[in-house]
Amino acid sequence: MQAVILVGGFGTRLRPLTFTTPKPLLPIANVRQLEHLIASLGSAGVTRAVLALGFKPEPFFQAFPDGSCAGVELHYAVEPEPLDTAGAIGFAARDAGIDSTFIVMNGDILSDVDLSALVAFHRSKGAEGTLHLTPVDDPSQYGVVETDGEGWVRRFVEKPQPGETDSRVINAGTYVLEPSVLDRMPPMQRLSIERAVFPAMVADGRLAAMATDDYWIDTGRPDTYLKANLDLIDGTRSLILSSVGPNAHVAATASVTRSVIGEGARVEGGSVLVDSVVLPGAQVGPAVRLERSLVMGTVGEGASLVDCVVGADGVVPARAQLVAAKVPDPATMG
Ligand code: GDD
Ligand code: MG
Repeated sequence: MQAVILVGGFGTRLRPLTFTTPKPLLPIANVRQLEHLIASLGSAGVTRAVLALGFKPEPFFQAFPDGSCAGVELHYAVEPEPLDTAGAIGFAARDAGIDSTFIVMNGDILSDVDLSALVAFHRSKGAEGTLHLTPVDDPSQYGVVETDGEGWVRRFVEKPQPGETDSRVINAGTYVLEPSVLDRMPPMQRLSIERAVFPAMVADGRLAAMATDDYWIDTGRPDTYLKANLDLIDGTRSLILSSVGPNAHVAATASVTRSVIGEGARVEGGSVLVDSVVLPGAQVGPAVRLERSLVMGTVGEGASLVDCVVGADGVVPARAQLVAAKVPDPATMG
């Protein structure tokens, strides 16, 4: 089976990290997010992953120079212009010649859902498409789904207004689709699967859904990206990954609590890290304090950062005291 992974978004909410690295290539506990996704697809029998690329495709080619990832063959489909989710799926599926049941995944989620069970459910319903659903406390930033008691979707509302729906169950960003769905996606047309295609499939009674309470997170915001990292090192998930990447240097006098240190990063003596992620190549100077922060660039001696994000080009001066800051500040950049 083949899978299309949507990786063409701008990653706006994760700026400045995504100024240099597309969101799916950011590591989560020292493994690129895309690699987590492709490994889970591979375990479910997917043999080829089609990357629906738009914005910044080159880092993806460089990241997987032999054209494979986690033992799964890669196919790169690069849109000439952003086509939105349905336009991108249609473009990628045609580019890869997909003509049988396939899986689609948003590139910014992490989940323990059993993909083989989702495919089996899809086939048992005889649906044209099947969504994976998950419950959340605040559904306003998601696609909200209402179902009947038998696994069919009755309503799909993307980013509902307050009071528009009572459902707390959302589209978790993994779908099983029949190739006939491509007929609903005219070639090279900008189209949203959430706002146009799913509502049309609901109207035809052809969209099914399977809700599970497996671990699930959308990693697209600084707080959720941070949580996705920490959940993989502190035992929240069944899998526990290493918190220190290869060739990282952590001084013996640094204190590191529930934090991730990326490949080749340096953390100097006397630094205190709590609930933070130091990304590959970052430089954390002596006696720095990091709390709930994401650092890709350089932090000078004695600085203190709480709830901050430092991009690859970010330089925090020595002894700076920052709270909820972004360095450089995306608001001042093009
Ligand atoms: N190739 C390509 N081209 N990919 C795109 C484009 C495009 O024009 N636009 C968005 N994407 C990719 C993003 O990179 C991301 O992987 C995925 O499509 C979804 O886009 P987001 O911008 O992250 O959407 P969202 O998080 O607001 O909402 C989506 O995900 C939620 C679950 O996390 C929707 O699918 C919601 O319905 C869902 O609940
Ligand atoms: Mg998202």
